[in-house]
Amino acid sequence: MTEQDIIKVLSDVRHPAKDDRSIVELGMIDRVDVDGNAVCVYLAFSKHRDPLTEYLVGSTKAALYRAFGKDILVEVKTEVKEAPKAAKKNNINDLTLEQLTSVKNIIGVASGKGGVGKSTVAVNLAVALARLGYKVGLADADVYGPSVPVMTATEGLQPEAVEVDGKELIVPLEKFGVKWMSIGYFAQPGQALIWRGPMACNALKQMILQVKWDELDFLLIDMPPGTGDIHISLVHDIPMTGAVIVTTPQAVALADVEKGIDMFRNKNVNRHIYGLVENMAWFTPEELPQNKYYIFGKDGGKKMAEKYDIPLLGQIPIVQGIREGGDSGEPVALGSRPDSMAFLDLARSLADAVSQE
Ligand SMILES: Nc1ncnc2c1ncn2[C@@H]1O[C@H](COP(=O)(O)OP(=O)(O)OP(=O)(O)O)[C@@H](O)[C@H]1O
Ligand SMILES: [Mg+2]
Repeated sequence: MTEQDIIKVLSDVRHPAKDDRSIVELGMIDRVDVDGNAVCVYLAFSKHRDPLTEYLVGSTKAALYRAFGKDILVEVKTEVKEAPKAAKKNNINDLTLEQLTSVKNIIGVASGKGGVGKSTVAVNLAVALARLGYKVGLADADVYGPSVPVMTATEGLQPEAVEVDGKELIVPLEKFGVKWMSIGYFAQPGQALIWRGPMACNALKQMILQVKWDELDFLLIDMPPGTGDIHISLVHDIPMTGAVIVTTPQAVALADVEKGIDMFRNKNVNRHIYGLVENMAWFTPEELPQNKYYIFGKDGGKKMAEKYDIPLLGQIPIVQGIREGGDSGEPVALGSRPDSMAFLDLARSLADAVSQE
């Protein structure tokens, strides 16, 4: 592993906001130190608080691990080459909650379990709330597997950065009346995002705190699966007003979902749970909407809601169109079919639950 080898590898790391030119071509590699299997790369940024800092640091590390194996030691240091303006802040630690001051409700859409439909529920709920006339934003907090860009057909679009009061902010994308933000907008399509814990947390906080949300009634946060460090840090650091827990009816899902409930009720976190959404509650063939087949068992979510004394906000059927809507980027909540209405009912129940708090 020589300096030249490293430069060669880094010439494949591209800056999505600069016409996908490589960080080498853009002159961002200030210095590379190699010592045995340890490498330190100094990345130079031309402005303070570049919204892509965390992303480029992550991509640089990932490229080196991919090329030289995970046993090497990689450090990436960032520096700003231009003379700093006095008022500008440049550090991830300087991120403040200022951009959330005009956001009335910040609601995590979570579950202890993967694949239960958190993202599907979050995206459709956002669209449904917007249809009811609320101002809505959605931050995709799944930095490892962002699904919002595909589910809204916004992949490939690039949010702009603007300067507000000397701070660089990312402007969310707007579509279907909702403001969307996802780390997926800063990655190449299909590129696996490899992050170490603290980096993932920082990238995530940037996706929520460094965004020009302006006034919102609801900011939904599509949480990644699990109840690990990243979740606890997120729930701890973001002033969430509460959470919506998504589950499917099977017992195996319910056990994991209980961990999700415990996470929000943990005394260090202590966030209100507005209610439970039972997704995939029954299967309905599109041509026979009145037929219900309880393929994952009946009322598992409803029983869990009773057990934990949490309101059941809604039951969403399994319908082929919901999956197709996710894959094509046309959320079903935009339509007028029975399953579209299930999301509108859910949005009404959530708005009611929030207004009663
Ligand atoms: N009610 C539903 N009817 C039909 N398909 C559904 C439904 N809910 C979710 N799906 C499909 O199931 C798959 C998983 O859903 P989704 O990605 O929303 O789950 P998730 O909980 O966000 O997953 P992850 O834990 O990976 O973030 C997707 O293909 C989605 O389209
Ligand atoms: Mg998801």
